[in-house]
Amino acid sequence: MMNIILLGPPGAGKGTQAARLQAERGMIQLSTGDMLREAVAAGTPVGLEAKAVMERGELVSDAIVSALIGERLDAASTSGAIFDGFPRTQAQAEALDLLLNERGRSLDYVIELDVDEEALVERITGRFSCVKCGTGYHDRFKQPRVKGICDACGSTDFCRRPDDNEQTVRTRMAEYRAKTAPILPYYEQRRLVRHVDGMAPVDEVAAQVSVTLDGEA
Ligand code: AP5
Repeated sequence: MMNIILLGPPGAGKGTQAARLQAERGMIQLSTGDMLREAVAAGTPVGLEAKAVMERGELVSDAIVSALIGERLDAASTSGAIFDGFPRTQAQAEALDLLLNERGRSLDYVIELDVDEEALVERITGRFSCVKCGTGYHDRFKQPRVKGICDACGSTDFCRRPDDNEQTVRTRMAEYRAKTAPILPYYEQRRLVRHVDGMAPVDEVAAQVSVTLDGEA
C-alpha cells in the first residue's frame, strides 16, 4: 500500500496523473483543491472561509486543509493514497507526517512534475470540465470526442474554474514558488523525491510515474 505525493505548480498535471493512478491502481486521490471546491459549492463554513482566498489564488489556512486530509485519510486505509495539491507548506508537510504516523503509515515517494511555468498558463486557462461527472478537458490538448458532449457521461454541460484566469494563475504560481517549492529539501533529505518530465504528453508522464512506482516498489 503506497502513499505518494504529487508535487508541482498549478497546471503541472497533478490532478490528471492522480486520476489515472486512482483508475489504474485503485489508489485514492486526495485532492485538497477538490475538497475545498466541494466545500465552497456546499456553502459549508470551510467553504465560506476558503472561497475568496481561492479566487485570489492564495493559500487556504494550514489548519483547514490538514483537517480535511485527516478526515479523508481513513477512506484510503487499504488502497494507498495519492496526495494531490497537499502539502503546500512546511507546516502541512509536518502535519501529513503526523497524520500518517498516527496510522502506522509513511510516505513512499514524492513525485515532482518538472514543468515550464509559462506553458502552464496556457494549460490552465484552456481547461474546462464536465459539470455532471467532473471529467477534465482542454481547449487545445483534450477536446471531447464529439464536440460539446462529455465522453464519459454524455452531458452537454461544461464549466471553468473561477481561479483559472491568467491573473489568478500568476498569483498561484508565486504562492507555489514562495511556499511550496521550499518544502522539497525536507523530502530530499529523506531521499523520497523522484523527478518526472511533466512537459511530456499525458500518457508518457503516466508511464514515467508508473516506472517510478513499479521500478522501485
Ligand atoms: P488546486 O485545485 O490544487 O489547484 P492547483 O495546484 O493550482 O493545481 P491545478 O488543479 O490547477 O493543476 P494540476 O497540477 O492538478 O493540473 P491538471 O492535471 O488539472 O488548488 C486550488 C486552490 O485551492 C489553491 O490555489 C488554494 O487556494 C487552494 N488549496 C488547495 N490545496 C491547498 C493546500 N494544500 N493548502 C492551501 N490552499 C490550498 O492539468 C491542467 C491542464 O493541463 C488540464 O487541462 C489537463 O488536461 C492539461 N494537462 C495535464 N497534463 C498535461 C500534459 N502532460 N500535457 C498537456 N496537457 C496536460
